Amino acid sequence: MHLLPLTLLLFSSYNAVQAGTQHENETCSRGNNRLQAGTYQFWSECNSVTFCNEDGICKPKGCRRDDFPFGYAQNSHSIPDKCPRGQFCPDEADLCQDLLPVGSPCQLNRDDQCEGPPNFRELADDTGRGLNVNGSVCLNNVCMWANATLGTNCTVENTPYTAYGVGGEFIDIVSRGNCHIGLYCDSAQKLCLQNKLLGDSCTADKECDSWNCLTSGVCGVAAATPHHFGIYVYILVALGIFGAMAGTLAGLFITHRKQREQEREKRAQYWREQNAFHQNLQQMRETARASILSLPNNNGGSARSTMYSRENSDEMNTPILQNAAPKSSGLRHYMGDDGSSDYDDGVVMQSGRKNNDGRF
Ligand SMILES: *[C@@H]1O[C@H](CO)[C@@H](O)[C@H](O)[C@H]1NC(C)=O
Ligand SMILES: *[C@@H]1O[C@H](CO)[C@@H](O)[C@H](O)[C@H]1NC(C)=O
Ligand SMILES: *[C@@H]1O[C@H](CO)[C@@H](O)[C@H](O)[C@H]1NC(C)=O
Ligand SMILES: *[C@@H]1O[C@H](CO)[C@@H](O)[C@H](O)[C@H]1NC(C)=O
Repeated sequence: MHLLPLTLLLFSSYNAVQAGTQHENETCSRGNNRLQAGTYQFWSECNSVTFCNEDGICKPKGCRRDDFPFGYAQNSHSIPDKCPRGQFCPDEADLCQDLLPVGSPCQLNRDDQCEGPPNFRELADDTGRGLNVNGSVCLNNVCMWANATLGTNCTVENTPYTAYGVGGEFIDIVSRGNCHIGLYCDSAQKLCLQNKLLGDSCTADKECDSWNCLTSGVCGVAAATPHHFGIYVYILVALGIFGAMAGTLAGLFITHRKQREQEREKRAQYWREQNAFHQNLQQMRETARASILSLPNNNGGSARSTMYSRENSDEMNTPILQNAAPKSSGLRHYMGDDGSSDYDDGVVMQSGRKNNDGRF
């Protein structure tokens, strides 16, 4: 039942495209004016911006009901005006007419064509359900006032509309009456009865105060009732949001801390290596110095060997170089015994090369 307004709307807007095909100044027959089956929308042979006049010619429409009438170009200057208060635009949309007094013929579902009663303030429908317009209704094409009271005879009009739902096409009967607001016109007894409350058994939406007769046959809450959540839902949602935020932050923090520790470990290892190298170097230097000092001075080598040592020890420190000549063998020996693999290789190479050279 809740889908109905939407489905009707979809259908009528689909049908609006299906206006007649005759253009302005082309011929038409008023006898073919009709209400479309299923939707009861007015149809004539003229297109959506013209009407069929009494001479059988399509002429531009003289009034409109919609704020945005179908068929006109945007910013079109030929859009006719809406009718002023006290007048109405008929389905044909030819010309504004004065409101019709009670008992006059009116068009289907056009309560707005009928003049309001003197007590229109009391009778007018303020529920937004279109039960009447300004206290008057058009039932069975006759203008009347919605003033029938509880238990009195009433007039009812049942109109079967074709509706489209999930399950396909179905008939939706719209039943209207001239009872006071708060009453409904029972179709069988033709009597005004009191609207039913929530939980009462019903056979149609019109019987329920909430305008919603459930498929289970009882009056349910109004279909438009907003769904309210308990305060705990808001609390849970807020907790969820903050939990997700905190979780993300914590996850990022942990991940970054792990990365940071890995980086720090790498740097520390690098530092340790460098420190070890540095200490090796220093030890080497000190050992060299000690061995140089402990050696007797007369143990001289050839000029060539002095030169050689000097060349190869350039990166090393000056103290070694200063008295390099006789001490090269001691240095090499020490280096050969040293645990540091990097320097070992170098020394082995040096020794090997010198041996190959046959200088020693
Ligand atoms: C229709 O006819 C009227 C009067 O003969 C003329 O003023 C108008 O321009 C015509 N409209 C079109 C679209 O031909
Ligand atoms: C309602 O009807 C009364 C009586 O006919 C009229 O004076 C009044 O202007 C109408 N109100 C509206 C909003 O049409
Ligand atoms: C109720 O409305 C009808 C027209 O539909 C009218 O003839 C009748 O006088 C009204 N009764 C009262 C009490 O206003
Ligand atoms: C109400 O309608 C019934 C028939 O539907 C009729 O017999 C009865 O006289 C009517 N009552 C009044 C007050 O019009």
